[in-house]
Amino acid sequence: MSDGEISSQRKIELLEEELRHARRMAALGELVSTTTHEFNNVLTTIINYAKLGLRHKDEPSRDKALTKILAAAGRAEKITNSVLGFARNRGHDRIPTDLAALVEQSLVLLEREMHKYRVQVEFHAEPAPPALVCGNEIQQVLLNLLTNSRQAMPRGGRVFIRVAPDSGNGTVDLTVRDSGAGIPAEVLPRIFDRYFTTKNGPDSSGKGGTGVGLAACREIIEAHQGKIRVESTVGVGTAFTLKLPVAKTSGPAATASPVQALGLPASGGRVVRST
Ligand SMILES: Nc1ncnc2c1ncn2[C@@H]1O[C@H](COP(=O)(O)OP(=O)(O)OP(=O)(O)O)[C@@H](O)[C@H]1O
Ligand SMILES: [Mg+2]
Repeated sequence: MSDGEISSQRKIELLEEELRHARRMAALGELVSTTTHEFNNVLTTIINYAKLGLRHKDEPSRDKALTKILAAAGRAEKITNSVLGFARNRGHDRIPTDLAALVEQSLVLLEREMHKYRVQVEFHAEPAPPALVCGNEIQQVLLNLLTNSRQAMPRGGRVFIRVAPDSGNGTVDLTVRDSGAGIPAEVLPRIFDRYFTTKNGPDSSGKGGTGVGLAACREIIEAHQGKIRVESTVGVGTAFTLKLPVAKTSGPAATASPVQALGLPASGGRVVRST
């Protein structure tokens, strides 16, 4: 091989990098579409209550209108913070991250969608040390898992999310359990294969069906030296568990808030969850 030629190994590396980039862009595109819908919903609320406040001059009606407007604007702020973080933090930096806070912030983005498909989301966080992760990428994994769960429950159902430490293994575990259709034993070994899908194209929200979701999840988790586990029973539901390495920190001060983990300036408070 002459000096000017690129080795085939290097070509493969470049193609893989391009593929990773394309996947990040696709995830971002999907997130933007979800967020635009969410945002529109919030704007409708604001406009309607502003009109109501103008129509009714009495103080209680105006107070009610302003309170609703304030709540909707607060939600709009959380939504933009979440998506801005995703767009800005393109890097792969892994920093000590509070996974529970990351879950709370990610759920803001799916609130309307879960409500639309009658999926009830519960979240339980046990006290856990920070995990050494790229918040952006773990958010992408979580959104993929939650979309799969929602798609497995066409008539609605429940999703239970849990963050808990596994001190024996030195990991923080993030579990997403649904009450969906479940995965037949003969299908289970193939679900992480790229392009494997049992879906007939995009769903009614225009999401997915190309079979790339779980392949991307596994790639991200393995790059974190973590593990992704699945358990499923047909007719009962499915649980995916991410086992992520604990960050060895000198103290809690080193923990990134979700805002930092997503590459955002710190603002706003924590969200308490139950959709
Ligand atoms: N929570 C779940 N419940 C039931 N089946 C699931 C669940 N998660 C994944 N699967 C099965 O695994 C297959 C592969 O999932 P994956 O996320 O990789 O692709 P997809 O959802 O079909 O398409 P994409 O993610 O590209 O939109 C799915 O088609 C489905 O059959
Ligand atoms: Mg999927």
